[in-house]
Amino acid sequence: MGFRCQTGLAQNRLLYVVFFVLRSILNFKLFMFSYYGSKSKIVDYYPPPKYGKIIEPFAGSARYSLKYFDRDVLLVDKYENVIKVWKWLQQCSKNDILKFPRLEKGMDIRKMDLSDVERIFMSFLVASGRPSNIVTKFMDFSNGRENTFKNIANNLDKIRHWEIRQGSYDELENVEATWFIDPPYQFGGEHYKESSKNISFDSLAEWCKSRNGQAIVCENTKADWLPFKPVVSIQGACQTNTKEAIWSNLKTNYDNVQMGLF
Ligand SMILES: C[S@@+](CC[C@H](N)C(=O)[O-])C[C@H]1O[C@@H](n2cnc3c(N)ncnc32)[C@H](O)[C@@H]1O
Repeated sequence: MGFRCQTGLAQNRLLYVVFFVLRSILNFKLFMFSYYGSKSKIVDYYPPPKYGKIIEPFAGSARYSLKYFDRDVLLVDKYENVIKVWKWLQQCSKNDILKFPRLEKGMDIRKMDLSDVERIFMSFLVASGRPSNIVTKFMDFSNGRENTFKNIANNLDKIRHWEIRQGSYDELENVEATWFIDPPYQFGGEHYKESSKNISFDSLAEWCKSRNGQAIVCENTKADWLPFKPVVSIQGACQTNTKEAIWSNLKTNYDNVQMGLF
């Protein structure tokens, strides 16, 4: 009886381990750096690309393109530091990533022996969103980012074929593609270096509607510059709740969702 019970417990434990391993494999998302307003938690809610070319004109950490990394990807962002980091990641070796020291809470990255672009990359990596010079508490839970460094290093080859440009969204040629458009929020996007304050949302709405191919536009439900539909509630920065919303020129699963019922 006792033996049977122990075998049963061991089986349960094994099932538990298999469940967690499978869950982490299925949940695995490509990641290169943390970024304020990234679509890390909700990228799976957006429609898949219908075209071989993906354009992210407000790239940030480009979670949508990372999900479909094997497409013909074009990243554009106005913020110089974001583009510097992407271009550096695109040409760096595994060892350039694996050589970084194990990170501990309280460490000051300005005291590390790093090049300018490495320091910018680290500032994006050491906190959970906004760039920081100090390694935050967040790192305690992620093994000093050791696994993160390994993952980034192992996935560098996946972005070698991408095109990466610094510039403004409105400078782009209107080619047929899947356009994943994730500007700073109309209400709440004031804190970016290249912020919502410098965006004319009326012009941006016309620009989105004029895209050739598939346009997927991200916002929250407060925005009124396009007829957005609710997608999902998430916890935003500073423990605030945001309701993510979408507009697309093609049909989506969210077309019949009413704002009021959400
Ligand atoms: C919400 S974030 C994008 C987040 C991204 N989807 C991700 O998963 O990390 C918005 C980005 O738009 C950029 N941006 C702001 N104004 C821009 C403009 N006029 N043209 C291109 N990029 C701009 C900001 O620098 C910021 O990186």
